[in-house]
Amino acid sequence: MASFSGFEKIVRRSEPLAMHTWFQLGGPAEYFAEPETVEELTALVRRCHEEGVPTRLLGQGSNILVRDEGVPGMVIRLSAPAFCGIRVEGRSLVAAGGALLGRAVTTAVHRGLAGLETLIGIPGTVGGALHGNAGAHGESIGQWTLQATVVTTSGEICRRGSEELLFGYRQSNLDDLVILETRCELQEDDPRELAQRMQKYWIVRKASQPLGHQCAGCAFKNPRGMSAGEIIDDAGLKGTRIGGAAVSDRHANFIVAEPECSSQDVLRLIELIRGQIHDRMGIELELELEIW
Ligand code: EPU
Repeated sequence: MASFSGFEKIVRRSEPLAMHTWFQLGGPAEYFAEPETVEELTALVRRCHEEGVPTRLLGQGSNILVRDEGVPGMVIRLSAPAFCGIRVEGRSLVAAGGALLGRAVTTAVHRGLAGLETLIGIPGTVGGALHGNAGAHGESIGQWTLQATVVTTSGEICRRGSEELLFGYRQSNLDDLVILETRCELQEDDPRELAQRMQKYWIVRKASQPLGHQCAGCAFKNPRGMSAGEIIDDAGLKGTRIGGAAVSDRHANFIVAEPECSSQDVLRLIELIRGQIHDRMGIELELELEIW
């Protein structure tokens, strides 16, 4: 068993992860920690590295499905105020990795900084959004990002400048363990007009996606030039269910967990959808959701 002596205040054993994810499903993390300072975080990451304990970072859990058997190793969550700050410096929005993306978006809009407003309503943290290059309406967070400060798996703090950062559709090369802070360079605009634009994006999202249900974000990435939701809908799979997991009636790229749902139900539904879309249309749907 790994030794976390000296970290007793922040490390817990067998922490149920369901309550930390939007799906509210899945088993426990072997070890779970919510450090309070950057020093505590880097020291803990170094200890995990020395002890050979696999380590993962959990944001808001809005793009993750935890398996029923749980997760071996350490899961770290950046919930403390030290990891959630947001500030504006000229045309830059500097946001800590644990800050909510929604707060980063509204802060930028209220300060008259344009660029991130299309992302309104995307759940999760700034770090999670950057890791998966979250986006909507053809825009994504990566296109505005100039710099990221990260913690590596060996506990080192590094700064990655724009020349090092690569973003693609729902992907980035930011695979360091922790995204501590990001700097987005935005464009000046009228705050009232910006707020109106943001509201329109919010209304569109609310009307087309199952917000407020027990589910994560989109299950699958869009295949090139197509919408995974439309493909699954056209295949007649809306409402299909396995156990407590169902394809959303509102948007077919969302899987909703109903009472008594298990992670296994969601995984089996994912396989059923992939199988049907492959057999009928020859399309391989790639998961956007991360399975832990
Ligand atoms: N559509 C259907 N049936 C459905 C769902 C969609 O016919 O069940 C049709 C819509 O009517 C529309 C087209 O498919 O004509 C595209 O739908 P939508 O505008 O909802 O966009 P999407 O391609 O399904 C993408 C992102 C969403 C993002 C929206 C809005 C992916 C996988 N999905 O969805 O992002 O919010 O655009 O910009 O890239 C996410 O990544 O988790 C996510 C929710």
